[in-house]
Amino acid sequence: MDKITRSLHAKANVERDAPTATPIYQASAFEAHSDYFYTRNDNPNISEFEQAVAILEETEFALGVTTGMAAIHIVLNLLRPNQTLLINKHLYGCSFKLFQWFCENFDINLIVEDLSIKNNWNNLPKIDMVLFETPTNPFLFSIKIKELSRFIKAKNEKALVVVDNTWATPFYQKPCSLGADISLHSATKYFSGHSDVMGGVILTDRKGIYDKLRSLRFYFGSILPPFSAWLLRRSLFTLEIRLEKHQETTKKLLEFIEGRAEVKKLYYPDIDGVQLMGYPTLIFFELDEKWKSKYKEFSENLRLFSTGTGMACVTSMVAQPFTGSHSSMEDEEKYSIDLTPALVRLSFGMEKVDDLKTDLQRAFDAIK
Ligand SMILES: Cc1ncc(COP(=O)(O)O)c(C=O)c1O
Repeated sequence: MDKITRSLHAKANVERDAPTATPIYQASAFEAHSDYFYTRNDNPNISEFEQAVAILEETEFALGVTTGMAAIHIVLNLLRPNQTLLINKHLYGCSFKLFQWFCENFDINLIVEDLSIKNNWNNLPKIDMVLFETPTNPFLFSIKIKELSRFIKAKNEKALVVVDNTWATPFYQKPCSLGADISLHSATKYFSGHSDVMGGVILTDRKGIYDKLRSLRFYFGSILPPFSAWLLRRSLFTLEIRLEKHQETTKKLLEFIEGRAEVKKLYYPDIDGVQLMGYPTLIFFELDEKWKSKYKEFSENLRLFSTGTGMACVTSMVAQPFTGSHSSMEDEEKYSIDLTPALVRLSFGMEKVDDLKTDLQRAFDAIK
């Protein structure tokens, strides 16, 4: 046989070599005898990551996708023209824009409501899908998953309840156990934890929904790439201890920030022990009147907080939602949800608490 042919067919014997950690299956297709066939449909790294996430959030099924936005987009495709989508008033700016665009283009009625206020539910018509984050972005308000699911389904038993669970994490909130049909995550945040990979996950207990979403993922080509799945699976090994550490640091720094003259209001979620069992990091505060336009000086004087977009990283981050997470919204849209340039967002990392305190103190001193 020619050396070119032999060289082309030289191959490691993966079964014989038996590595203790799963290697990256950077292959687009699998031999006919394999359980896998094409990476746009499935791949061992993606399946392993999905299994690990489903176990943590206690759901039957999980689907790994390219980003959190891809997860939301795939789920939206369960809607049909003339149906009604209900969303919460406070959610990630890009999600809000996607809902507006999607509903306008595909003739879906869009209703925006503040779902954290129970009285507002009484105004709602028959809904086909409700999608919300809890705790909300911004302000960390709580929306009652169990009660809202019951309320929506009482008017339409086929309605789908979808919760973006990114900020609560599978450890601290399990939407599908509370009556939601679908839970989804931006895996770019806590699952990654190192600001170095993007991904999304959709979770459900319902086989029919899983099959539809899995087909859509295949047709849209939005499956999580194997290398990203491998990195995310690796990060999941340390998720629990990262969350505990985040939570411990956040509690200590809340005490440090609360009551400061420069801080008008501090936002932290309601950990009720029924729906939300804990909360890792990411808090908001509003700069008081005198300091309300001082975000730039505040953030520039922080040395340990990155100003890059993101959160839930092992290193701390600072952001202004007005120009960051909600920048894709029009200014009037931001003001209509009470979002102003005075709102600051902090995500605490793994640094020593005293070092973070010193850093924050320097930034507060600098804007005085
Ligand atoms: C709550 C929430 N959902 C979804 C997304 C979108 O995720 P991704 O950036 O992975 O597309 C984000 C991004 O910040 C988010 O904060």
